[in-house]
Amino acid sequence: MDGVVRIERSGRQAVRDGDRLVAEFDGYVKLRPDGERYFGCGERTAGLEKTRTRQVFWNVDPPAGHTASFNNLYTSIPFVLCLHEGRAHGVFYDHPGRVELDLAKADPARVTVSAADELEVSVVLGPTPADVLDRYTALTGRTPMPPLWALGNQQSRWSYLAADELRSVAAEFRARAIPCDVLYLDIDHMDGYRVFTWDRERFPDPAGLIAELRSQGFRVVVITDPGVKVDESYSLYVEGRDRGSFVLTRDGDEFQNVVWPGVCAFPDFTDPAVREWWGDRHAGLVDAGVAGVWCDMNEPALFVPWHSTMPEDAVHPGGGRARLHGEVHNAYGSYMAQAAREGLARLRPDARPFVISRAGYAGLQRHALQWTGDNSSWWEHLWMSMPQLQNLGLSGIAWAGVDVGGFFGDCDGELLARWTEFGVFQPFCRNHSAMETAPQEPWAFGEPWESVCRDMLALRMQLLPYLYTAFEACHRTGAPILRPLLFDHPGDPVTYTADDEFLVGSGLLVAPITRPGVEHRHVYLPAGHWRQFWTNELIEGPAHVLAHAPLGQPAIYARCNTPIPMWPVLPHTAEIPASLTWRVFVGPGAGSSSLYEDAGDGYGPSCSRTAHVERDGELVRFSLSARSGAFVPPQRETFVDFVGLDRVRLEENGDAVVIERVVTTDD
Ligand code: GLC
Repeated sequence: MDGVVRIERSGRQAVRDGDRLVAEFDGYVKLRPDGERYFGCGERTAGLEKTRTRQVFWNVDPPAGHTASFNNLYTSIPFVLCLHEGRAHGVFYDHPGRVELDLAKADPARVTVSAADELEVSVVLGPTPADVLDRYTALTGRTPMPPLWALGNQQSRWSYLAADELRSVAAEFRARAIPCDVLYLDIDHMDGYRVFTWDRERFPDPAGLIAELRSQGFRVVVITDPGVKVDESYSLYVEGRDRGSFVLTRDGDEFQNVVWPGVCAFPDFTDPAVREWWGDRHAGLVDAGVAGVWCDMNEPALFVPWHSTMPEDAVHPGGGRARLHGEVHNAYGSYMAQAAREGLARLRPDARPFVISRAGYAGLQRHALQWTGDNSSWWEHLWMSMPQLQNLGLSGIAWAGVDVGGFFGDCDGELLARWTEFGVFQPFCRNHSAMETAPQEPWAFGEPWESVCRDMLALRMQLLPYLYTAFEACHRTGAPILRPLLFDHPGDPVTYTADDEFLVGSGLLVAPITRPGVEHRHVYLPAGHWRQFWTNELIEGPAHVLAHAPLGQPAIYARCNTPIPMWPVLPHTAEIPASLTWRVFVGPGAGSSSLYEDAGDGYGPSCSRTAHVERDGELVRFSLSARSGAFVPPQRETFVDFVGLDRVRLEENGDAVVIERVVTTDD
């Protein structure tokens, strides 16, 4: 593939990009030039930079409290983004079994890899991080366009235990005017945790309930687990057994272990026929109106011993291509997500499938978004979410999110408010918490926290046109939506350790507060002109600033002259916005951005426009290109908001428009 260079298992090899030396290898040992830095490696604890660390790639369901001393978590993406002298390349260590990387820890001059079986090593050329991600996702797959509703706010809990409880959560959202698009049903909606079934006492009429919620603008997503209860009266089990669809022990017996339903068998998702069977079994959920599925426990997680996974010598018959579990372990979750996605696509061909996965391997982004499993309601985990999501984005998994408010342990009002200030910028924004923890819906802790959550979720709703456009760019080029500063500023080494702030697209920089009782924090602004989102203060980067970020006003900076397309606040995405406003933070120089639009679901036409802003002395010129593409957005008013100056209504019909304004202030 263009821009991807395979490394030979032995011998010295120099990788070049034209005349430029990119990397040198001695077999699979990467020779590290002085000063080369490493990032990526998928889902990780601790900070953004991974130079001089050892990284293990082996999917597990880790015990509670993912501290910095943890190594491997639920997904394994053995992909490293390397930066040296401002230029980037990637190295992909492709093997779905166990892989370990020593990123110049043992020897500062070498990066070494060990794997139980054959692996393929490839260098992905840059020279920018954007080039690397473009090529890496061309190789491993792009993030499909999500349905628009999936960008809305989502609310979950283990578990909303009955239909009326779900109804009352829905009613609270609408009564309190807190935007929400999606509600979740965790494992207790099932009959004895049997996947694809309903507990008919708690949920007597799933289709009726889902239709009722849909009429209020909510979608319902349900959890699915790979463990199939061993039960002669359960058709899924009997069918799977009779078809030979389950993983075997090395002696050829059905492999069984304990998960939520008790003793379970496990589908061999490596077999295409098993994936098809499993995918088709989503029909009942689809018929009931379920909007998407949340694939959990798919490392796979086992309870005997507690927090274990499948033994490496379990056998995947694979439909004729038998493999030991150890050879494919890290891909098990991806295969389950693939089965779900393909099933949903077959069952509802006009809708974009919505699939979440906890576990998976490089390329998971083709099938599912990733949420990062069972974090805790700790300030430390709010902080950790940032490097975690940034490294996932650098590893091809751009559609990701952590449980807002934290899963384990009791959240509190301030933590939830601050977490929501961060969470609304996650590509996937869902509040979820564990059984027996304090309720953590946005209103759970009263005021002033509820209002902060409402205002922040309203801001996310306003930003949806901007976010949706960033998703489309990601779908086309692999560019992360939530991204580290280094993605756009690789020549600036200060950005390499700026892991408690991030960019959303390239127009917004967000620096959340991650400690209780704190209203001020340091923010690094890289080169360019920035404006404080709430006060419009102009700052020229590179600069270290002390931001004042009282509750409800997190430190957000807009890149000057990069127009942000925004909607009015809507309760959910099925409402048609009455207006579109280009918010322009004017500053010296010029900039541009774009707007992508389509029907929000399905595979119909789309359209896009580019907005360009230029300041020339006292004049600011805003130009909007003619609409290109066949999609015609619904009728609405269009405004340009020159923040702090003027708000102008645009008379426009899809043709190119130019407007000019005189700037009278000095900045
Ligand atoms: C796992 C999931 C969690 C879910 C729970 C019950 O711990 O990670 O999100 O709530 O199982 O299904």
